[in-house]
Amino acid sequence: MKRSLTPTQLGRLLGVAALALASYASVLAGEAATQANGALLPRDSLDAAIFRGGLVYANYCVTCHGINADGNGRAARLHNPRPANLRASDKNNAYIALIVRRGGEALGRSPSMPPWGEELTDEQVSDVVAFVRSVNARP
Ligand code: HEC
Repeated sequence: MKRSLTPTQLGRLLGVAALALASYASVLAGEAATQANGALLPRDSLDAAIFRGGLVYANYCVTCHGINADGNGRAARLHNPRPANLRASDKNNAYIALIVRRGGEALGRSPSMPPWGEELTDEQVSDVVAFVRSVNARP
């Protein structure tokens, strides 16, 4: 039997999906769920960059660096050295952007940290840097 959703059902479903994404990003960012309604944030605000960066992180980084950004992702044990604990990183924004773009090997570190420069746009890189900064313990 073929069943299709009514516009109302579809709207609800999309709403739930958007909410789930927003709260996922806010959990990653360690913020209250209500703060991370991305659609309501001004595009050029830091909060918006962190929100978008959380989505980049969830797509490209979480399997290794983990849901808490502490280096304990599901694939972490496959790598030696282990993925870095990004909460405890002592690196500045420029370094983080560099290793994200060029990967570990280009910086004399482990090739297990892949280069993302071909994959991510400049905005995605700066957003994910903002996200990493937001979960990082250092100012
Ligand atoms: C396939 C696993 C893997 C993925 C996916 C991955 N990383 Fe990594 N990452 C690593 C490993 C392993 C290291 C540690 C390299 C070393 O110590 O030589 C690392 C190191 C880093 C560092 C250096 C931190 C420090 O304090 O020195 C940063 C920043 C980083 N990763 C960010 C990211 C971001 C952002 C993403 C997503 C765009 C990402 N990584 C995706 C494995 C991964």
